[in-house]
Amino acid sequence: MTPVYPANPDTVTHAVAALKAGQLVALPTETVYGLAALAKHDMAVAQVFAAKGRPQFNPLIVHVTDAAQAASLAARWTPTAQALADRFWPGPLTLVLPRRVDAPVAPLACAGLDTIALRAPAHPITQAIIAQAGPLVMPSANPSGRLSPTRAVDVARGFAQSPSHTVSADDRPPHIACILDAGATNHGVESTVIGLPDERTATLLRAGPVSTDTITAITGPLTQPNDTPNAPASPGRTLSHYAPARAQLRINAQTPGPGEAYIGFGPCPWCVINLSPTGDVVEAAANIFTALRAMDDAGFPQIAVAPIPNHGLGLAINDRLSRAQTLHNL
Ligand code: TXA
Ligand code: MG
Repeated sequence: MTPVYPANPDTVTHAVAALKAGQLVALPTETVYGLAALAKHDMAVAQVFAAKGRPQFNPLIVHVTDAAQAASLAARWTPTAQALADRFWPGPLTLVLPRRVDAPVAPLACAGLDTIALRAPAHPITQAIIAQAGPLVMPSANPSGRLSPTRAVDVARGFAQSPSHTVSADDRPPHIACILDAGATNHGVESTVIGLPDERTATLLRAGPVSTDTITAITGPLTQPNDTPNAPASPGRTLSHYAPARAQLRINAQTPGPGEAYIGFGPCPWCVINLSPTGDVVEAAANIFTALRAMDDAGFPQIAVAPIPNHGLGLAINDRLSRAQTLHNL
């Protein structure tokens, strides 16, 4: 089992040394736990894909300290990118921009695309590590297609076995040097991802903690991603994701059906878990992955989830839930 250390200055030093030696470490962020490797280290980046069983066409986010470091990796750092960074960084927002051709980032990290996804995370532990080690690729620290981890224990358990669905030929559990434990993450869902392909266009690639309203106040109206089957605007969008390991999921359920365990939202006498008794989407987002995991662990074969209002963080919750449901309907 991967060692779990409390996040403190000593373990930060340890994690930085492991990263510089080309190893993987799992780190807390304000959204979900991430599986980190040095972005410039080809082998370490390749091992992130192997550890997650992640398809190599799905690129990784490069995590930086601030806008200046992000600008150094982009071909064009636009005024809109700067304005968004000024407003939301460090924080749960990822910007996808044209990539600088000679950026010191493993080509595999961007999956061969001419764009790069950049985010300055707010968590002080991860900030300190990036400041000492350099930019890090950091996908959510879960086997590909599974629930994102909001606690250190979720990471340890997720990688304890080699998942049968991985694309890795290696059937051993992946080697992760350590997991730094800083308690449960704040937001509970992954960052908002915005594409900025040119000066005028801003595209919502993934809903997340930074609401679209606050973004459009800076960018103007967001365009819809222009996916084609062979060239999705953001490869992760087309994948089924966030699935419980065993349970069948039914979303937008007003009441539980026969044999279903119910995840509620708002006042709800019959639910097994309530995402937010007061009907607060921010609280619900922080709880959604833990709730699905707990229901799965308890062995419920069928889970029904109450309707979640489709505004603010509710958009991100509904996005994750509909993908989790899709996997089982494939
Ligand atoms: O909150 C987060 O963003 C977390 C924490 C750990 O920072 N990370 C995370 O990474 O969610 P990941 O790999 O699980 O999701 C990254 C998403 C994927 O959907 C991927 O397709 C998209 O970002 N992405 C990455 N690079 C891209 C690019 N160059 N163009 C379009 N989409 C990109
Ligand atoms: Mg992920």
